[in-house]
Amino acid sequence: MIALACDHGGYELMQAAKHFLDERGLKYEDFGTYSAESCDYSDFALPACHAIASGTCSVGLLICGTGIGMSIAANKIPGIRAGLCTNNFMAEMTRAHNDANVLCLGARVTSETEALGIIDVFFSTDFEGGRHSRRVEKLNALDRERE
Ligand code: RB5
Repeated sequence: MIALACDHGGYELMQAAKHFLDERGLKYEDFGTYSAESCDYSDFALPACHAIASGTCSVGLLICGTGIGMSIAANKIPGIRAGLCTNNFMAEMTRAHNDANVLCLGARVTSETEALGIIDVFFSTDFEGGRHSRRVEKLNALDRERE
């Protein structure tokens, strides 16, 4: 289950992303926002990321204007590894090397066509493990210390 969240800056792109996920039969839970009215990205990022951290959802897709606010908010939650991606290579690497469980996009930075390509790569790339597991585990250990 993919946790979705956006603010007004990401609302329109999120509608296209939902259509894209529907076409591929990928299930999601939409944590809002539900209109293009101005709102605070943090109000939507945090519940979506808590759902991932608690295991209700397995991964996330967060969209705001730049993707920066969403990624800052997401990476505050223990267990979240959010990657802000602006191209397919970043999407592939953040899954393969960082085992990212959240994809952040900036709707004012990335075109719809590019964004859908990035989503496709992100959700179809596996973590490579190996030496990358050791690096990710050091971050997980920090999360555990803070609990
Ligand atoms: C909203 O205007 C904008 O600040 C927000 O979507 C995002 O880009 C913040 O990081």
